[in-house]
Amino acid sequence: VPRVVVATATGGPEVLAVVDEPTRPPDPGEAVVAIRAAGVNPVDVKRYGGSYGNPQEFPMRLGFELAGVVVAVGDRTEAADGPLAVADEVIGYRVQGAYADELVTPGFSLVHKPSTLDWASAAGLMLAGATAVHALDATEVGEGSTVLVHAAAGAVGLMAVQLARIRGARVVGTASERNHALLRELGAEPVAYGAGLLDRVRAVAPQGFDAVVDAVGSGEALDVSLAVTSSPAHVAELVVTPRARESGVLLLGGAPGADPGTEIRDRARPVLAALAGEGRLHMPVAGTYPLEGAAEAHRAILGAHPVGKIVLVP
Ligand SMILES: NC(=O)c1ccc[n+]([C@@H]2O[C@H](COP(=O)([O-])OP(=O)(O)OC[C@H]3O[C@@H](n4cnc5c(N)ncnc54)[C@H](OP(=O)(O)O)[C@@H]3O)[C@@H](O)[C@H]2O)c1
Repeated sequence: VPRVVVATATGGPEVLAVVDEPTRPPDPGEAVVAIRAAGVNPVDVKRYGGSYGNPQEFPMRLGFELAGVVVAVGDRTEAADGPLAVADEVIGYRVQGAYADELVTPGFSLVHKPSTLDWASAAGLMLAGATAVHALDATEVGEGSTVLVHAAAGAVGLMAVQLARIRGARVVGTASERNHALLRELGAEPVAYGAGLLDRVRAVAPQGFDAVVDAVGSGEALDVSLAVTSSPAHVAELVVTPRARESGVLLLGGAPGADPGTEIRDRARPVLAALAGEGRLHMPVAGTYPLEGAAEAHRAILGAHPVGKIVLVP
């Protein structure tokens, strides 16, 4: 019987459990995917932690992104990027319940996985990648733009740095010292976050920034963002806090009142898959865990984990 990870109640990672759940046949427009890897994201923890939006229902399946193999296809089912058949290798985003052996999901949630991309990287590419595309589009980053990325060595930050470089932008990124070499390799100019951040950022880019992507949501990041841009409308805020709401920055994502950017993010999927398949966009894998290790994976993502995505491998 296929296994599924569920959150059983509001709480910390200790509320996660693995249960057996038979997979139903696909309805028209749906497919069944045998999951090879599922991306772990901070939002997965926030959803059952009690702080995220409306009251939640339990047991709650988790996981918005996956990579796997199609094992059944319903009538008139197509993927977002074309026809879909059994044995196709796919990436799923945005899906509901990727932490499992199998998932029934609408065909439009799937795009084909480039054969050059391994399962774990493919599973961790889309949520962070589509978020980064949304942030760069919303702040109109293009050739010649100067962009500041807060939390540049995080999953979203790594995508924002690489995609901004592909667009021809100059990128300054904040990260811990241990991640500065990686950011330089990706073509960004690293700056350490913490006390004195504004001075260090100004020293690197005295003329200021055309755009900021904030994937940390700290008061420090917000203060710096507002100080180095000519308008809060040039700041893409991905971690919505009460202060961010008051400041007039662009609130992006699933938080109440934020712009979910559904169309932009949907359209970004085949583009991200192609770039990753060509080796122009890399999502490093920080660690892999079995389904039974979901709680450990969540503790890891809450802490100072190695660079890249944490991935569940059923
Ligand atoms: N709105 C949306 O649509 C959306 C989508 C995806 C994610 N998010 C949110 O964005 C955040 C990041 O997600 P992620 O997947 O990128 O997480 P992640 O991979 O766990 O990365 C977190 C990063 O934060 C950095 N960091 C920690 N404290 C910092 C500080 N005080 N200043 C600057 N950077 C700091 C760390 O950098 P070092 O290792 O260099 O210290 C780490 O690389 C989460 O809160 C997540 O929920 C929002």
